[in-house]
Amino acid sequence: MKFTQYQVDEDISSARTLDTSFYKDPAIFDVSREKIFARGLHYVGDRQMLPETGWVHPVNLLPGVLDEPLVLVRDKSGETRCMSNVCTHRGNILVTEPGKAGKLKCGYHGRIFDMDGKMTFMPEFEGVQNFPCKDDHLTKLPLFGLGPLLFTSLDEGTDSANYFRDMEQKMSFFPLDELIRRDDLSKDYYLDANWALYVENYLEGFHIPFVHDSLSQVLDFGDYETELYYPWSSVQIGIGKKDEHTFDLPAWSSDYGKPVAAYYFWVFPNMMFNYYPWGLSLNIVEPLTHNKTKISFITYMLDESKYNLGAGSDLDRVEMEDEKIVLQVQKGVHSRFYNQGRYSVSRERGTHHFHRLLAECLNG
Ligand code: FES
Ligand SMILES: [Fe+2]
Repeated sequence: MKFTQYQVDEDISSARTLDTSFYKDPAIFDVSREKIFARGLHYVGDRQMLPETGWVHPVNLLPGVLDEPLVLVRDKSGETRCMSNVCTHRGNILVTEPGKAGKLKCGYHGRIFDMDGKMTFMPEFEGVQNFPCKDDHLTKLPLFGLGPLLFTSLDEGTDSANYFRDMEQKMSFFPLDELIRRDDLSKDYYLDANWALYVENYLEGFHIPFVHDSLSQVLDFGDYETELYYPWSSVQIGIGKKDEHTFDLPAWSSDYGKPVAAYYFWVFPNMMFNYYPWGLSLNIVEPLTHNKTKISFITYMLDESKYNLGAGSDLDRVEMEDEKIVLQVQKGVHSRFYNQGRYSVSRERGTHHFHRLLAECLNG
């Protein structure tokens, strides 16, 4: 099935924005589950969730969109894996609580899997033909690490370099391995709006002087830059008005000499990596329905003495300002008199790139 209403011209100067039915139509949201979300890379947690060897931690990947039961495993040798959390017998969920485990035992009829997903024991199965075969073992998914953060994909062929290569290169001066998740400084937000309106707002700094008073005191809008990384990510570089609370960049960095206060990376489809001198604010945008979205702000600390300074301060206030404007746009896209807009060539390249990817996924 083709979705010809979603065509976004490659040339931003003649392009029109995404047809508003994308944000409104529950049927398009249903199609997006497989065409947009089932591909791509997804955050599944971090190594802090697996504090010891022989540890398991269940994860429901994107509840409401993918609802895929997965389990993170750290085996005896310390190797970390991500596997299906569904018993291959009759489909029971295997692991329901995080904890220490030497093996995975199904609570329904006693099937046992080793920490590598191999089925090793099943009671009362004498006489069953061609058993066990490969379908009796758990499906293993690719697992990618970025410092302590863990990502998976439902698509075995996914190459994480297509998503992370440019971010890893640009941020290689940043000691990702030292990040510590801080639940006391993390927060979930719930928004009655379509997820893509939230993402496209994030992808342009155009609105900063109009919507974010406090942020425009610290960021120099004139020098704010966007770099697009093909195919699946982009970055916005927030230049500080003063040299304080900025990164100490190495001489090899293409941004060396600039007072960079924040790097705002977006990775398709729903991950935002906001790097500040104090650490990383990871934002995961989880659609719940076509008009409800959960945004998780997960705080990873590097240097607490710099916390809440500069562009990485008052994130709750900035979020409230963004939510207010996104809720207004959510109403606006339902108008009979608005269907598509145009892009600023200088200020909306990130949003244009995002819309093009959405249109390509739906049509490709
Ligand atoms: S469903 Fe797991 S053993 Fe039956
Ligand atoms: Fe904003």
